[in-house]
Amino acid sequence: MTTLQLSLFGLFAILFLYKTIVAPLRNPLRHIPRAKQPPLRRRLLIEPDSRQCEEWMRETPNDGLIRYSGILGAERILVTDPRGVRDILQLQPYSFVKPGPIRKIIRSILGDGLVVAEGSMHKVSQRKVLQPAFKFAHIKDLYPTFWSKSVEFVDSLSKQVASSGQEAITLDIIPALGRPTLDIIGLAGFGLDFNSVADPSNDLTSNYLHGFSASKSAQLRRMLSLLLPGWFLDILPLKRNKELNAAVKAVRQASERVIQQRKADLQRTSGEKPTAQFPDILGVTMQSGVIDTADLINQSMTFLGAGQETTTSALGWAIYQISLSPEVQSRLREEIRANLPDPSIGTSITAEAIDKLPYLAAVCSETLRLFPPVHMIQRNLTHDLTVCNTAAPKGTSFRISIWALNRSPTLWASDPLVFNPERWLNDARGGATDLYSFLSFSHGPRSCIGERFARAEMATVLAALVGRFHFSFVGSGVDVNPDPDMLDCEFGVTTKINGGLWVNMQPAQG
Ligand code: HEM
Repeated sequence: MTTLQLSLFGLFAILFLYKTIVAPLRNPLRHIPRAKQPPLRRRLLIEPDSRQCEEWMRETPNDGLIRYSGILGAERILVTDPRGVRDILQLQPYSFVKPGPIRKIIRSILGDGLVVAEGSMHKVSQRKVLQPAFKFAHIKDLYPTFWSKSVEFVDSLSKQVASSGQEAITLDIIPALGRPTLDIIGLAGFGLDFNSVADPSNDLTSNYLHGFSASKSAQLRRMLSLLLPGWFLDILPLKRNKELNAAVKAVRQASERVIQQRKADLQRTSGEKPTAQFPDILGVTMQSGVIDTADLINQSMTFLGAGQETTTSALGWAIYQISLSPEVQSRLREEIRANLPDPSIGTSITAEAIDKLPYLAAVCSETLRLFPPVHMIQRNLTHDLTVCNTAAPKGTSFRISIWALNRSPTLWASDPLVFNPERWLNDARGGATDLYSFLSFSHGPRSCIGERFARAEMATVLAALVGRFHFSFVGSGVDVNPDPDMLDCEFGVTTKINGGLWVNMQPAQG
């Protein structure tokens, strides 16, 4: 062995001993109970998902925190108790940041919008400026847009059934749901009509759906993003990079055209009543004085990235549940038909009409509880701090599994794994012991700014669908597995049914 080889060997040996013996002894978090995991070689390239966190929360005795290893053995602290959730999300939100690699990826796709902003850039420059446009006073003006797109969607499905010559059709409902949600976020979010319900193959829609869809190439890119620096990932000749770049470019250009046109309109008509012109979120924000084109494009991209896949996921899970629960479905349809206009009549709708339907709201809340579209919140600590009564050093990497907490038997009174909309009917907390038990839209200053928008959209699209059609479960996944319990859930950017959700759809009688 040469001297160089010997020195290298010695260095590795020292590093190995430090990492395996010294560092664990000096780790200030060593007293936190550890989750049971397979040996390092079998989990080195795996980032545990929310299903795994749910299991650990059930099986590992703990006092609010559990320690586990993520990809490449990186230490993670899983928060299992509402006290810890409150510390991170509500009491000290700006002592934590989203992990760097995740922010870099999101920024490279969506630009410098609200999702990636931190500190005062988040609090003062962005959240405070955007928040007014997301208040109910404005969101209520968007219900007619939600409804007209929903009606257009059910009409297009009715035509599909009629042209099949059958009484019912079987289809994978997930990609279909992506069309009204794309049109709605485009139009009600930033004034851009993707027109994907009427014309699914138009250039803008196909570009977007290709670029942002959950494909094998998307999975590969996501996995690589955990291992490689962002700049390196961006220059790799991946198919996903090309698709993504094309999609981002097309939507950015279209959004810029809308913004420029509006700026010109605003200049011409300055002095008019603000919301009368552009009721969408971006329009209201522009009329409040925000005019920097690059900022406005970034926020449009952010609404699209944060608001399209999430609501598609929520609606997909709602259809999954009601297609398996005929009683829930009938009760829901009765309420909808007794209170809302038949979509074929062409009448518009008010916020009040949708919001006064308790069972519809309960079905939506229960779906969002049991199948939260965003399943995990990730935060790194920026300085030493006590979290959940435990002193944590700067850099500690926390995970809040929304999925696991929303299903926790210690936080939810009765049968948390059962889909039971009733739990919401007489209790705004759905029977949970603590405010921080329901986390689907998170809490605190970094909670989902689009919650009201998303809830209204979900309720409106679901009402139009269930009012018109009867759904029954056929199968899930690429092999259309008819066993609903064998459903393969993918915990990616959103929580999805892997390979699709196949339902039988028949015009409802009566
Ligand atoms: C069912 C649908 C939706 C769900 C379940 C959902 C959930 C969430 C969650 C859990 C967060 C916090 C993420 C974190 O802190 O890491 C979040 C943030 C955010 N959401 Fe939503 N969301 C939905 C729809 C929407 C819609 C429709 C919009 C826009 C119109 C939107 C815009 C945003 C933005 C901009 C943020 C970042 C807020 C901030 O950091 O201040 N979301 N969402």
